[in-house]
Amino acid sequence: MSDKKRDCEAAIGVFDSGVGGLTVAREIMRNLPNERIVYFGDTARLPYGSKSKETIIRFSRQIIRFLRTQDVKAIVIACNTASALALEEVEKELDIPIIGVVKPGARVAAAATVNNLVGVIGTESTIHSHMYRQTIQAINPDITVFGRACPLFVPLVEEGWLKDPVTEEIATRYLKDLLDQGIDTLILGCTHYPLLRSLIRKITGEHVTLVNPAYETAKALERLLEKKGIANPGEKEPGNEPYRFFVSDAADKFKNFANSILPYDVETIQKINIEEY
Ligand code: DGL
Repeated sequence: MSDKKRDCEAAIGVFDSGVGGLTVAREIMRNLPNERIVYFGDTARLPYGSKSKETIIRFSRQIIRFLRTQDVKAIVIACNTASALALEEVEKELDIPIIGVVKPGARVAAAATVNNLVGVIGTESTIHSHMYRQTIQAINPDITVFGRACPLFVPLVEEGWLKDPVTEEIATRYLKDLLDQGIDTLILGCTHYPLLRSLIRKITGEHVTLVNPAYETAKALERLLEKKGIANPGEKEPGNEPYRFFVSDAADKFKNFANSILPYDVETIQKINIEEY
């Protein structure tokens, strides 16, 4: 097999603090059906959303070292928190392409807003990093970005309370200030939030554009692979497991969640000791 063919057929490495990044893997599966995926969920060390930058960078480096052992051709940081806090640092150290979810989401939000008032919701670490704001204002300094951390959303989604009145009450409280500011665009800046999309839509009304960084990242990945000449032009090889999943803990819980949201039947999840990398 030629090196070029091998490069194109190699998998995309996708990682997150846990199950949430499966919303990104799902968009890659839907939009880039020829691509194989190696997914790592750091279920032993989540949540990332309340951790420091140094810790997130250390975790991200370990995960990237693990993904490199799987011969990936490119890496997607599916986690908004790790994209906001670690991407700038780790991309300098890599000789394969790597993208996060913040830039693709920010770019689309900057293009979508008409009144230049954009809201972003995410974990505490993502919001406090101001990375969405900085990225949007680097594109258009006239845009005002309002951030709101929504720490209760992650456990509510993992509990499966996607349409529960309790979740609606909490979301109404979280979104009130952003809506009072008159935002016309809202970035769902955390892996789990696209799963709350219909509930959030009910609260914001139709006049607010909801930006899903997971979808925008799959589209950005498609462009990146084309540009680098490493997109897989053919069908995935039959018999060769197209999607492989690794976690650092609680494989069964991960499997249940994966099977509830992916357009793919996940059978095997491998647990690894990420601290070894
Ligand atoms: N994956 C994280 C994010 O997108 C949310 C979960 C966590 O805090 O680890 O920011």
